[in-house]
Amino acid sequence: MTDTIPHLTLNDGQRIAQIGFGTWPLDDGQAETAVQTALGSGYRLIDTAARYGNEVGVGRGIAASGLPRAEVQITSKLRGSEHGYDSTLRAFDATLADLGTDYLDLYLVHWPLPMRDLYVDTWRAFVRLREEGRIRSIGVSNFQPAHIERLQSETGVLPAVNQIELHPDFTQADLRAWHAQQGIVIESWSPLGRGALLQDASVLRLAQKHGRSAAQILLRWHVQHGLVAIPKSQDPLRMRQNLQVFDFALDADDLAALALLDGEHRQGAHPDTNDER
Ligand code: A2P
Repeated sequence: MTDTIPHLTLNDGQRIAQIGFGTWPLDDGQAETAVQTALGSGYRLIDTAARYGNEVGVGRGIAASGLPRAEVQITSKLRGSEHGYDSTLRAFDATLADLGTDYLDLYLVHWPLPMRDLYVDTWRAFVRLREEGRIRSIGVSNFQPAHIERLQSETGVLPAVNQIELHPDFTQADLRAWHAQQGIVIESWSPLGRGALLQDASVLRLAQKHGRSAAQILLRWHVQHGLVAIPKSQDPLRMRQNLQVFDFALDADDLAALALLDGEHRQGAHPDTNDER
């Protein structure tokens, strides 16, 4: 299974699996079990965040899988309350200790928090940590183009990834085109629209047509749009199912039907105004 997960190449030359395992909103105990099961099912990209409060559990789950560290791609995120150069360096050390590892594959600034205006200093610390070899790739989450342009103009370093809310009910076509132009890979959070799209009549019709589940149709949509999706499930069967999306394809009619679902419905917070620390 692992061999069949396609990868995208990031603008720093690193590669990232197109489907990973999301761990929000699992607590430590749930995350430990779920991550071990996910790795046993073939996932190799695990997504967590300091703010989720489950890094210890994620680390235990990875250890319990018995996989060599190099075979697992670990993403974590800097929480908003730690913005700033020195506090970022300290928070990163705490994240590594909690995860029980000595490097991250991908570290993201969780939210831009423009009202605090510390994301550029934060980014300078990210650049340093990457230069020191303690992070393979650095990126952002919930950043708007203006925030990313500022990182580029003030530090000269573009993020490799921007992880944002994205699903067929919130496709953000202009934003996707902008990221493609910049060479920044988008990771979709809440790729299933927090489950809301699973009952949609068009999605269910396509599920029947392809002999797949609604979740597989939605995840295949992400894959065919060149995105990385990180679905979360605590159910071992759904976990496996969510990874089995590389042996069928949506055709042009299917994609046209799914395009009609875009109601521009955001499920989570607005990136500019959210003050999630
Ligand atoms: P569960 O953990 O009970 O499987 P999103 O990733 O968009 O935030 O959506 C996550 C939600 O979708 C979770 O509540 C998860 O619940 C559910 N989910 C994940 N995969 C599937 C699936 N294959 N079929 C149905 N529900 C799913």
